[in-house]
Amino acid sequence: MQTPARPPLAGFGAVLEAASPEKRLEDLPVAELRELVRDHHLLLLRGFSPFADAHELAAYCTLWGEISMWPFGAVLELTEHENPGDHIFDHRHVPLHWDGMYRPQVPEFQLFHCVSAPGEDQGGGTVFSQTSAVLRDADAGTRALWERARGTYRRKMEFYESTAVSPVVTAHPVTGEPVIRYNEPVAADDEFINHPDLEFDGVPEARLEEFHRTLSSALRAPGYAYTHKWRTGDLVVADNYTLLHGREAFTSRAPRHLRRVHVLGDPPLENPALRAGGRPPGS
Ligand SMILES: [Fe+2]
Repeated sequence: MQTPARPPLAGFGAVLEAASPEKRLEDLPVAELRELVRDHHLLLLRGFSPFADAHELAAYCTLWGEISMWPFGAVLELTEHENPGDHIFDHRHVPLHWDGMYRPQVPEFQLFHCVSAPGEDQGGGTVFSQTSAVLRDADAGTRALWERARGTYRRKMEFYESTAVSPVVTAHPVTGEPVIRYNEPVAADDEFINHPDLEFDGVPEARLEEFHRTLSSALRAPGYAYTHKWRTGDLVVADNYTLLHGREAFTSRAPRHLRRVHVLGDPPLENPALRAGGRPPGS
């Protein structure tokens, strides 16, 4: 395999571009790709022969490991819905979070395939934040404040109704390296469909504003955050144990269509944050 380059303007991540559009992703050695994701936390595979449909994508993802199955199957179709019941299917922004936080198991890898990209000026980038680097470079006092905090998150949507509790600074489940698990609050006046219920304890009330402000700005600082501007055909694999991610708002009715698959670690990670639920409401 060629030496990977970094995504443009990112402080982390790796890119492999196909030498020609006939090149198939299936022909790249997945064991090496997995190590690239673990080392660089994000891998963009660009310009390869596209998957014909969701089934082909799911079949490819089985090469990466065991797929985390959802009530809808393996592949989440991320498109804007006509009358969304949840912010996931809206065109507005999605704050930083980690996937699987409300589910029985937390996937190690997220694979996103871009079926159709929005226009260049229509937004809709996916924001990734490299939390182990944020912690490594934070000043000691600020980091100590973050280390005191614990988040309690409650969320009900079509696919689960759950409570999750996690220290904001915790250990990577495989390497033990410090990482951040945090779901950014959205402003009370923000138009946001199906707001999760978030509470943070461990930090004195008088310092909560400082806690959220310093953490959000560190997570979103240049070099630590990378906004991926989608191109049709892109496959992005993200290290969900280390990164947080969110979405930029996009122009309503822009042709943004991503497919997402969750691949579990080996062995799968039982969600250490899950306190209740994890299953669809009523199940
Ligand atoms: Fe997500």
